[in-house]
Amino acid sequence: MKENDSHIYVIFGASGDLTKRKLVPALYSLFVQDLLPEKFALLGVSRSVYTDVEFRKAMKTAIREFKEIEDITKIDDFVSKIYYEPIKFDDVSSYVLLKNRLDLLRPDCNVCGNTIFYLSTPPSLYGIIPTHLAAVGLNNQDDGWKRLIIEKPFGYDLKSATKLKDQLLKHWTEEQLFRIDHYLGKETVQNLLVTRFSNGIFEPLWNRNYVHHVEITSAESLGVEKRGGYYETSGALRDMVQNHLLQVAAFTAMESPSSLEPTAIRNEILKVFQSLRPIRKQDVKTHAIRGQYLASHIKKEAIPGYREEEGVDPHSMTETFAALKFYIDNWRWGGVPFYIRTGKRLPTRVTEVVIHFKATPHFLFSQNEGHSTANQLVIRIQPDEGILLKFGMKIPGAGFEVQNVNMDFHYSDLSHQRIPSAYERLLYDSIKGDSTLFARTEEVIEAWKFLTPVLEAWKNDKDIPLYGYPSGSWGPEKADDLIEDKDVTWRYPCKNLSDDGIYCEL
Ligand code: BG6
Repeated sequence: MKENDSHIYVIFGASGDLTKRKLVPALYSLFVQDLLPEKFALLGVSRSVYTDVEFRKAMKTAIREFKEIEDITKIDDFVSKIYYEPIKFDDVSSYVLLKNRLDLLRPDCNVCGNTIFYLSTPPSLYGIIPTHLAAVGLNNQDDGWKRLIIEKPFGYDLKSATKLKDQLLKHWTEEQLFRIDHYLGKETVQNLLVTRFSNGIFEPLWNRNYVHHVEITSAESLGVEKRGGYYETSGALRDMVQNHLLQVAAFTAMESPSSLEPTAIRNEILKVFQSLRPIRKQDVKTHAIRGQYLASHIKKEAIPGYREEEGVDPHSMTETFAALKFYIDNWRWGGVPFYIRTGKRLPTRVTEVVIHFKATPHFLFSQNEGHSTANQLVIRIQPDEGILLKFGMKIPGAGFEVQNVNMDFHYSDLSHQRIPSAYERLLYDSIKGDSTLFARTEEVIEAWKFLTPVLEAWKNDKDIPLYGYPSGSWGPEKADDLIEDKDVTWRYPCKNLSDDGIYCEL
């Protein structure tokens, strides 16, 4: 860390869950690794009233509870740099007090005017807080840089995202804005670029001539837990596809950037988004499938359905599963279908990208049951991060019978390397001012442009079914119909777990 990276990290919504579970443990972890500048202070801001001492105590507990942190010897040192300021988010005079507090802390902690404002608040405050900060001059960079970090959702649809963009860009520049997409902080998502562009063997095949289709799955075994209220306003398409999974698709599909400069990488991501073939209103039914999990038994344990979850409308039509087929209309990918699938209460937690290569043009050998000549490259984003190549080998003995085998690399084999958490990586980058792994305004707008017709059709067209699927299953069976080639199915990394579930239309 350079001397000029000293700063104050201000977290709005500091009494909330994200601060405790992710942000403060990630900052502590950076501190332990000497990746924070020596002159550093953390100021928690939110509606609740705490003294500095009380807040420090709460953060100390949060760090201790965070399983992945082994070294807690520096905890007292770290929390001594933490402060707290209560605020009324919608009252501009509160921001005058905040400014005064920052002015007091700066000489105290020996830091200059560099400040990061992290908005870990409900999205309804994304318009208000940055505007009020600007009203008291806290966007002004004369005495040091000022950065604003926001968490998704960046809007609710194209209209609200455009409104938010205008509100933010009125007082802040694009360079000051850091939109967190925690998937981009995942080591294996970044490794997509390294796999593709640091090896000679993959890239020549990575196009319409050799790739049959691309599949991206992000399955979760948990339900909505305590987030029913939020999820009701979101659904799977907004929650996972608009941001995380389209970004993963962009990393999979983009051209090689001219350099590793943020603008170079983000330009290539944007080009992918701009090449997404729009899904027309009349095509939504055949390009998108939605589902909602139902009550079921998994290994005899009763699992509640989505409509029975806390904070969820008992007649809710919110999707907890979404599957999409789409195309990227450019020279590399012309005609190659991309399939994305995500859902809650599926049999396991897994996120992976599968490149399905075309089958051999002719097959000479006798085929073993289940063998396919269509090779697959599976890039496992989580858990058990790694890469798997499936290909055919001769079964030892007489004849030429072929079976599929796996060539398998696990990140965990690099045992000397600890995989940093996504937040750790992203907070570190925000401190360095590196915006490569943050979503740029145009990307967000393009992603909304692409998905808004689907969201509108799902909301307004009563003929588009919402399929119920049993908790513990792989989602609506109808999702199979999205796949054009009838000899191909989604990849199922594990078996259906539902004991007794039924599939139906809701
Ligand atoms: C969040 C979504 O952005 O990502 C959650 O709001 C989802 O609903 C989570 O569970 C998944 O993240 P991860 O890192 O566990 O795959």
